[in-house]
Amino acid sequence: MNCKIAVLDGDGIGPEICAEAIKVLNAVAKKYGHNFEFAHYDIGGCAIDKYDCPLPQHTIDGCLSSDSVLLGAVGGYKWDNLSGDKRPEKGLLGIRKAMGLYSNIRPAKLWESLADASPLKSELVKNGVEIIIVRELTGGIYFGKRERGTDKNGVEFASDEERYTVPEIERIMKIACELASKRNKRVVSVDKANVLESSRLWRRTVHEYAMKNYPDITVEDVLVDNMAMQIVKNPAQFDVVVTSNIFGDILSDEAAQVTGSIGMLASSSLGDTKRGLYEPIHGSAPDIAGKDICNPIATILAAAMMLRDSFALTKEYSAIENAVKKALDDGYRTADIYTDGMKKVGCKKMAEIISENI
Ligand code: IPM
Ligand code: MN
Repeated sequence: MNCKIAVLDGDGIGPEICAEAIKVLNAVAKKYGHNFEFAHYDIGGCAIDKYDCPLPQHTIDGCLSSDSVLLGAVGGYKWDNLSGDKRPEKGLLGIRKAMGLYSNIRPAKLWESLADASPLKSELVKNGVEIIIVRELTGGIYFGKRERGTDKNGVEFASDEERYTVPEIERIMKIACELASKRNKRVVSVDKANVLESSRLWRRTVHEYAMKNYPDITVEDVLVDNMAMQIVKNPAQFDVVVTSNIFGDILSDEAAQVTGSIGMLASSSLGDTKRGLYEPIHGSAPDIAGKDICNPIATILAAAMMLRDSFALTKEYSAIENAVKKALDDGYRTADIYTDGMKKVGCKKMAEIISENI
């Protein structure tokens, strides 16, 4: 198979982790006879430095003319004081919107050999944890109206609007129901319907949609504050979880940490086509950038998801997943998942071991 992959390295550890994911993709290409072509484009802080804009038009064009997109991470101290639309994060939000990627899937899975790295007591995680967070990605407060000003009494204010339409809720619910159909036929929907009007519409819509289109799927509602508690109290009770953009952002970090480290969690973002954007859920970690100590596994697993979900290369997906599993089972650990008695390795070495396992 010939695939054109756009790579958005971004900032901080972004270039390091993308380079290592490419190493693993090349190992897959060699073994299975594919041809992956990579074209790099600037996004985030590095794009601001070069073009005074976090998402230049040629980056959008490059992504839209590729078969799929791999992204590292954006942001860093250097750009922290810029105004809202100039910030590196605006580049990431912009590319998600420009590519129409409304569905963000974040599987938080506990790898057996990493059970010790979970901050939870072993009895809570000993039977495994796999929470698949389906996060709405192009709506809600991330994209609602923003305002900043001074009222008539001279008091300064700012506001961000949380707005959802029925079709936006239905299309993300469809993704969750499709996933749940192949799993345990249960979807947990997270909202704040006891307070927010947007959540009351969310709650009504997910139930109506499932009842009409997926009658065999059970939909349960959990309030977001309770969800935050349940994830640490009994994470094994969850499977497919569907939620809004901001709740999904927050809960996926929590779920990731429960499974050991945010450095392990990959995500896929898709819309109505097979052209997706695949990225680790973690950030650019500027404090450890360039030191070869970050964990490349989330990005490597994101690349694996690309092979499976954009290119239907399921054997190749499993090859990467098994290669990661073997590296962990053999005791190799980057600093973030290191525990006593294991073999500590850097970012490059970890990717090298995984590539050799392919
Ligand atoms: C994520 C990140 C982004 C988000 C930021 C960097 C804009 O935290 O992908 O989870 O909030 O979506
Ligand atoms: Mn986040």
